[in-house]
Amino acid sequence: MPKTTDARARIDELVDELNDYSYRYHVLDAPIIDDTAYDTLFRELEQLELEHPELVREDSPTQRVGEKVGGDFPTVVHRTPMLSLANARDLEELEAWQQRNLRMLGVETAAELPDLRYVTEPKIDGLAMSLTYQDGAFVRAVTRGDGTQGEDVTHNVRTIRSVPMRLRTPADGSAIPAFVEVRGEVYLSRSGFERLNEQRIADGQPVFMNPRNAAAGTIRQHDPALAAKRPLGFFAYSLAGGGQDAELPSHHAAMEWLAGVGFRTSPEHRVCDTIAQVHASCQAWAERRPTIDFDIDGVVVKVDEVELQEELGTVGRDPRWAIAWKFAPTTATTRLVKIHVAVGRTGSLTPYAEMEPVEVGGVTVRQANLHNAYDIERKDIREGDVVIVQRAGDVIPQVVGPVVDARDGSERRFVVPTECPSCHTPVHYEADEAILRCPNSQCPERNLRLMEHFAGRTAMDIDGLGEKAVRRFAQEGLVARIPDIYRLDERADEIAALSGFGETSARNLATSIEESKQRTLDKLLFGLGIRHVGEQVGIDLARRFRSIDAIVDASIEELEAVPGLGSVIAHSVHAWAQDEGNRTMVRELQDLGVRTALADEELAGPATEGPLVGKAVVVTGTLGTMSRSEAGALIERHGGRVVGSVSGTTDYLVAGEKAGSKLAKAEQLGTEVLTERALYDLVGEPAPDGALG
Ligand code: IVH
Repeated sequence: MPKTTDARARIDELVDELNDYSYRYHVLDAPIIDDTAYDTLFRELEQLELEHPELVREDSPTQRVGEKVGGDFPTVVHRTPMLSLANARDLEELEAWQQRNLRMLGVETAAELPDLRYVTEPKIDGLAMSLTYQDGAFVRAVTRGDGTQGEDVTHNVRTIRSVPMRLRTPADGSAIPAFVEVRGEVYLSRSGFERLNEQRIADGQPVFMNPRNAAAGTIRQHDPALAAKRPLGFFAYSLAGGGQDAELPSHHAAMEWLAGVGFRTSPEHRVCDTIAQVHASCQAWAERRPTIDFDIDGVVVKVDEVELQEELGTVGRDPRWAIAWKFAPTTATTRLVKIHVAVGRTGSLTPYAEMEPVEVGGVTVRQANLHNAYDIERKDIREGDVVIVQRAGDVIPQVVGPVVDARDGSERRFVVPTECPSCHTPVHYEADEAILRCPNSQCPERNLRLMEHFAGRTAMDIDGLGEKAVRRFAQEGLVARIPDIYRLDERADEIAALSGFGETSARNLATSIEESKQRTLDKLLFGLGIRHVGEQVGIDLARRFRSIDAIVDASIEELEAVPGLGSVIAHSVHAWAQDEGNRTMVRELQDLGVRTALADEELAGPATEGPLVGKAVVVTGTLGTMSRSEAGALIERHGGRVVGSVSGTTDYLVAGEKAGSKLAKAEQLGTEVLTERALYDLVGEPAPDGALG
């Protein structure tokens, strides 16, 4: 056992080192060691502290989770009140706000005040918290409460890894004031929220409605061990008292100071010279909103100069020098009229809600996805319920949950269907799935969906055969299954006679149907809607087997042997090929002149030279100048191999707009992420106008 002096030195070393690793991980987002190495050092520290309890430092990372606290949390009066914010919704209201301020400051135009600048920062949807530090050490965390006094929740806030236990020395070496009060937002990331809810479902506990509620619920717990398990974060957005104590002249200087002493500050706060710039920044945040991992409900605009802030002062509870640009609300309540069940192209039965029309996030919503019967039961959503509807950006509207208090007893529980609403075939759950499926490959609704998909731009690309046209033709008895599309030429007169069609569009349709017969095998395979066969798997299968006949005859083993194809896909393709209806369909398509084999030179595979030889690349999201398959062709021309999903062996992820889970996965794995422009740079081709990034 080390002597006490040695132990003290080692403990000091470990605490400093571990705190620094934690700071780099939780505040800077730039870890420098892996979790196992961290844990090893952490355990060494725990052991030493056990042997020398008198040497335990207050800022030791082992001290974040303390004892349970009992009873009500003590009330603490805020030194300076925690204010709220007035709102602005559009450019006009922002300009009116500036005009009022200019008047207060005794000028007519902003040009007369060259020092007037603004800072914009995201308005994080969490809960406001005041943190106090005495001589650089964290002493207390208090909720906003009514703005004048809040509750002491130090025991829980101490568990938040991005809250420093001891302030760092600023880069300029200046002293830290004896008393520092930092304000900011405690929040839960969206991914953390989803993980938490999954765990709660597994444990049979009720789910949280949104990240904000989950964060608030966590902060109210008596046992800090609970809070420690939930991935709460903290963003600092102000130094209470405007930073005078640290002699900081502006809000952005205060933010820099806060970052320097160890806080994670409002991400990407921006200094703007004009209201027009402020407005542009607000709109940029509104666009980014769906892509970031934490909820924001607006943008906070602050007058930057502390002197001007003081001159403007407050009115009631709102500072005049700050305003919240609020996004259109993304949730609303409405009545759920009925639960319907939609049949998808793979036979999936998905319940959806028909609702009384309601405006959410700027659009009128009448329907929302309900995912599956299990989800409806879990959230206890009933027909006739008043429900909370959520919509963010382009995301499909969701029913968050019922307003249970609004029930009058007339609500009806959803009855899980036992048969397909379209063809009445008994439906069943497939192993490990929460989705019911109609197994009938001849199901009318399923075939309708399949035809829509088949004709889609990324599949057989038949111009003029969109969702509406398919439904219309089906109603008129012109098509029921995919092969019927290639028999439409015999019924050109009937099509031309349909209202809204006419001869020209009938002729154009006939031309694009004829052209589609020559699409490559990968497009056809993707278009046939075989489960788990996306665009990339279509290419992988086409490349390996080169004809549909070879695929239909392939054994599971042969399918599993295709690079990039796992057992799930192999089984799915095999099952599809065993279905008599599908085999008939393939023969019909061949008889009707649809090409079902690759020509020699087609889909030759990656070039053998080029900057991407040996590299596995995934493409995701919407690119600016090309489709994903065109991007795939570009990658292969330069030697790269295109793969469908991100894994440890992926070299690059090319991410366009609305890149979702693949981007998150790549970030998690540390895979290099390329913009469209960076891809062009990498392969040495000039990026056309409109390339992203
Ligand atoms: S500044 C005087 N900045 O919004 C300034 N508040 O209505 C008052 N909030 O509950 C707060 N993000 O917790 C400020 N970047 C940000 C913020 C922010 C979220 C919350 C704050 C308060 C509410 C103000």
